[in-house]
Amino acid sequence: MTPWWKEAVIYQVYPKSFQDSNGDGIGDLKGITSRLAYLEKLGIDAIWLSPVYQSPQIDNGYDISDYEAIDPQYGTMEDMDELIKEAKKHHIKIVMDLVVNHTSDQHRWFIEARKNKDNSYHDYYVWSDPVNGHEPNDMKSAFSGSAWKFDEKTGQYYLHLFADQQPDLNWKNPELRQKIYDMMNYWIDKGIGGFRMDVIELIGKEPEKGIRENGPMLHPYLQEMNKKTFGGKNLMTVGETWNATPKIAEEYSDPDRHELSMVFQFENQTLDQQPGKEKWDLRPLDLGKLKNVLVKWQTEIDFEHAWNSLFWENHDIPRVISRWGNDKEYRVQSAKMFAIILHLMHGTPYIYNGEEIGMTNCPVKDISEVEDIESINMYNERLAKGYDKEDLLHSINVKGRDNARTPIQWNANKNSGFTTGKPWLHVNPNYKDINVEAALADPDSIFYTYQKLIKLRHKNPIVVDGDFELVKNTNDSVLAYYRKLDGQKWLIVANLSADTQSFDSEEKISENIISNYQDHDDLHNLELKPYEAFAVKVK
Ligand code: GLC
Ligand code: CA
Repeated sequence: MTPWWKEAVIYQVYPKSFQDSNGDGIGDLKGITSRLAYLEKLGIDAIWLSPVYQSPQIDNGYDISDYEAIDPQYGTMEDMDELIKEAKKHHIKIVMDLVVNHTSDQHRWFIEARKNKDNSYHDYYVWSDPVNGHEPNDMKSAFSGSAWKFDEKTGQYYLHLFADQQPDLNWKNPELRQKIYDMMNYWIDKGIGGFRMDVIELIGKEPEKGIRENGPMLHPYLQEMNKKTFGGKNLMTVGETWNATPKIAEEYSDPDRHELSMVFQFENQTLDQQPGKEKWDLRPLDLGKLKNVLVKWQTEIDFEHAWNSLFWENHDIPRVISRWGNDKEYRVQSAKMFAIILHLMHGTPYIYNGEEIGMTNCPVKDISEVEDIESINMYNERLAKGYDKEDLLHSINVKGRDNARTPIQWNANKNSGFTTGKPWLHVNPNYKDINVEAALADPDSIFYTYQKLIKLRHKNPIVVDGDFELVKNTNDSVLAYYRKLDGQKWLIVANLSADTQSFDSEEKISENIISNYQDHDDLHNLELKPYEAFAVKVK
């Protein structure tokens, strides 16, 4: 039997920015519940809910102080139970974010752990004695500066691969692992659809050897977790793995290994950054390279014994049309093009909230407008090193995480219908034109392209299981591929660029499936319009 998540489309909700229900300017659980009918209309099968657990909100909930409590800013546990129950009525499962590489420094375990070295929770975290009065090594935090922080009381350093308020858990401790499995089972018992696993590739870290991701115990821990929690329960699990190769992705997702359903891979993320540098060090995207990465992850995964996810956006990366498409003249065309090429590929597609209406990046003029800890820390660190302020702001406007975190644009009313109060983060000023209400009223909107693509997946096994085959000999700016199943053949063609491109094929069209301009009668010497994309059945 095909597991449900192979035929599913998942929608990521960033709770803080989705829908405010009580006017405090912060999205909440009741707000999400109130929008389920909209999500059902879009047609998605599950929501991946970014963290709503109790948290000091240093990293918008990715710093958890109690895994079994809801943060008051999002509501109560009753609201959470209500969301799960109501979502079921709309045929939507709730996939919870599982953040277990680290906790908040306000978690009870860490408060105990730092009391003294003999405390029974001390070993739940990663500690090191000073070496010659300094940090044990030069490991860096993903949010700038050293990954080690000195703790006065214990006289030791603790490890934090992210903010210093996000101490890393010590997965070598079996008691800690069991506590995590118990917590996962608590959520499974509530009837959730599965877990998205935050930076899961880090749990096998060996900091004393400088090993962060893909440590030796990573897979054994996941196998243990599978056995003790979700294994055999028809739940979906997706790991966030920035450093996965296709081979590593197969290790995680081979059903015989009993680990995860699939992972998120991020190989395309480095294409517009300077080699060996950080995400802020920009370089222009080479479309040929983007195409190669897309094709690589379609052809180097053995889908018979593994699986993969498909996505353009999430809460950590910019809006794709602003980044690699066109968010002005060809906003609608490029948004539909990205949707068509991704949703007709092999794997499980994810839509990030707002993507389905073509929301765009939201540039700022001053650092005071920025909320994201990663951007702020980078700015301060580089400013101190003498970088130019305008250059730093430019990088933040291109790559900063706030771009994708601005409130969802529901309508043309004040604050885009997101809140009646003051939104926690500025609303993108283009909300009067780009909003859900306008999208629903326009039969030709990006929304309906997404809706149609989801239906196509649900109705056609070829979209789920068809083999992927690249059409060779097109130029770098054209991506063309077949999906093939049981003698059926679909051809998908896309112009990734803002220039016209040529495409030519001997194939005969038997049916037009979807397009972002107009349908074609034949495939001879086509001139593809800017960002044109279409799919056809061929004989
Ligand atoms: C993941 C999350 C990101 C968070 C980080 C630390 O990358 O997606 O938002 O800041 O982990 O938890
Ligand atoms: Ca609220």
